[in-house]
Amino acid sequence: MARIEAEIGKPQGGFVKWIDDRFPFTSTMKYHVTEYYASKNFNWWYVFGVLAFVVLAIQLLTGIFLTMNYKPSADDAFASVEYIMRDVEWGWLIRYLHSTGASFFFIVVYLHMFRAMLYGSYKKPRELIWLIGMLIFFVLMAEAFAGYLLPWGQMSYWGAQVIISLFGAIPWVGEALVEIIRGDYSISDITLNRFFALHVIVLPLALIGLVFVHIVALHEVGSNNPDGIDIKKNKDASGKPIDGIAFHPYHTSKDLVAIIVFLMIFCSVVFFAPDMGGYFLEHANFEPANMTATPEHIAPVWYFTPYYAILRAVPSKLWGFVLFAMAVVLPVFLPWLDRCRVRSIRYRGWMYKTALSVFVITFVTLLWLGMQPAEGVYVRMAQFFSVLYFAFFILMPFYTSRDKTKPVPDRVVYHG
Ligand code: HEM
Repeated sequence: MARIEAEIGKPQGGFVKWIDDRFPFTSTMKYHVTEYYASKNFNWWYVFGVLAFVVLAIQLLTGIFLTMNYKPSADDAFASVEYIMRDVEWGWLIRYLHSTGASFFFIVVYLHMFRAMLYGSYKKPRELIWLIGMLIFFVLMAEAFAGYLLPWGQMSYWGAQVIISLFGAIPWVGEALVEIIRGDYSISDITLNRFFALHVIVLPLALIGLVFVHIVALHEVGSNNPDGIDIKKNKDASGKPIDGIAFHPYHTSKDLVAIIVFLMIFCSVVFFAPDMGGYFLEHANFEPANMTATPEHIAPVWYFTPYYAILRAVPSKLWGFVLFAMAVVLPVFLPWLDRCRVRSIRYRGWMYKTALSVFVITFVTLLWLGMQPAEGVYVRMAQFFSVLYFAFFILMPFYTSRDKTKPVPDRVVYHG
């Protein structure tokens, strides 16, 4: 024994020390948690990042249990979901947590992105956090789209039919691309199988990886704050930012309150209105897929409808697709379109405040319009609001460089 200890060394300082000698546990915890200093003036807009984490965890966990009973085949998929709802113990709860979680994921992520627009969090030096965030958003859209085909209901089938056929509008490669996505000449069992593989393996792995690098990038430059001030400029003698407080226990305790409130709202929907009047689970999807009968109105789930409204506002299939793709991709360029020297809306001028307010109204109106039939006044309105949507981004370099800003204080504004 004494000889072995002499060779491999005596354990000193217990289990954590043993781990630390082999893995950077304590130093990582310090860097990312107990000694990660974030501004003390965070407000409620700052809880949505953590809430996105919570929803991701809910989706992964409930997804695992759904997969245990779901059957990815055109013959069995719809019946297997019914089986989960009726016969599997707590199956109805697992399924409703997952379907409601999908909608809440988008609510939380849209608010999280809006916070970045309020406080200029995408601006230097946080451009990469924003870009990774946009990648997360694209993967999330693909994840939701693939997931929606799996119950093999009427809207699963026809929604996928409409969206996949859009790619056919791309000149030369369009038709080939559509066949690659579907894996067949029409949406079939093969499509369902590959969407299942994407939904349960490829895209969740991509999401987890991207969220990891999102946080690594955030911790490299540090969090922004509602004043848009660089808190690292004011440090005390020990080198800690004067306006910063440790992420744990200060921000974690506040985040816990947000998580509890969020779960109360989330569970109210899961238990009392899981289909949310047809917005979270569309009524047509309670009927099995039928390739010989189209549902009365084909509309994607609410989180895609702003882009769908833009798509339908244009009579040409090709241009509809181009504008649809542009509407989704344009926010990527926000860090470079926004020329204002000031980050936070608190110190920006009337132009950005007006533009952002109009943008919010535009986005919500397009969301509503995407659920209406594509006819008459709805199409005219969709055209008008599509112009406003694009104007927000395309005119941004002009109005943000001319906007009169207010002086930014040296220290964050904090009302305890
Ligand atoms: C699964 C999805 C996501 C998760 C789990 C996530 C997580 C987080 C967390 C925990 C934070 C730090 C806390 C906070 O500032 O709220 C953060 C910050 C940030 N996120 Fe995300 N995020 C997600 C998606 C996105 C998306 C889609 C975007 C934008 C396209 C985005 C952009 C940002 C930005 C710019 C920051 C820095 C905010 C600041 O310091 O003011 N995130 N994210």
